[in-house]
Amino acid sequence: MPGLLLGDVFPDFEAETTAGKIKLHEFLGDSWGILFSHPRDYTPVCTTELGRAARLASEFTKRSVKMIGLSIDCLEDHHGWTKDILAYNCEESACCSLPFPIIADSKRELAVALGMLDPDEKDKNGMPLTARCVFIIGPDKRLKLSLLYPATTGRNFDEILRVVDSLQLTTVKRVATPADWQPGDCVMVPPSMPEEEAASLFPAGVYTKDLPSEVQQWIQNTDYQKSAEFLVPSRLWISRHHYITKTQYQLAPPTTIIISGS
Ligand code: BEZ
Repeated sequence: MPGLLLGDVFPDFEAETTAGKIKLHEFLGDSWGILFSHPRDYTPVCTTELGRAARLASEFTKRSVKMIGLSIDCLEDHHGWTKDILAYNCEESACCSLPFPIIADSKRELAVALGMLDPDEKDKNGMPLTARCVFIIGPDKRLKLSLLYPATTGRNFDEILRVVDSLQLTTVKRVATPADWQPGDCVMVPPSMPEEEAASLFPAGVYTKDLPSEVQQWIQNTDYQKSAEFLVPSRLWISRHHYITKTQYQLAPPTTIIISGS
């Protein structure tokens, strides 16, 4: 049976956390949310991950994302483990608490309900541990992205930030982000968008690269300058054929479309 699917409303569960009892939807409010699970408290890979998440907390806050962790141990263990995480990851006594709560799922009820268990990793009693799940939840409380890593592979939190940027951009603009996209890079319009619609939505300028199939055409983004702003790239790649500059995008765009290529 499939678990949670993209677009599903994320379960509004109640849970005990290191910051008190929460109801997920109320906790998230109007923010985006990231729920990330951990196999066990006091385990080394998890300790590095929670430390990395804590160091990136201001980046997530900038993007209006609330983080919440989950591990299948009790609150007392979470509090004890937090001291280890901070000692391992933070400069001297710079921090005294994690900037996000951790859910105590000691009965594994959420881990089971949310399909988080890793059948290959068992504790000393033969019980499966939680895998490393990442659920990204939109302000509409719907699941926008899920990642599932086995317990033996730690996550890349820079990648999680990167996908948040892509999700937030593609929520407000009808564009898609190509492989390895970073904020400020060119973007693409989904192939389902008719060319006429793309031209009317982004009527500023185009660049075409013909490919042998004559079906897909790709743009080269050779003279692209990286932008510090993540929502509006310095050049917006508007379709497989078109791009416009950030200034053109922000002001009323010009009407000319220049078709280049062979
Ligand atoms: C860890 O977090 O170090 C870990 C947990 C379960 C299996 C393997 C590694």
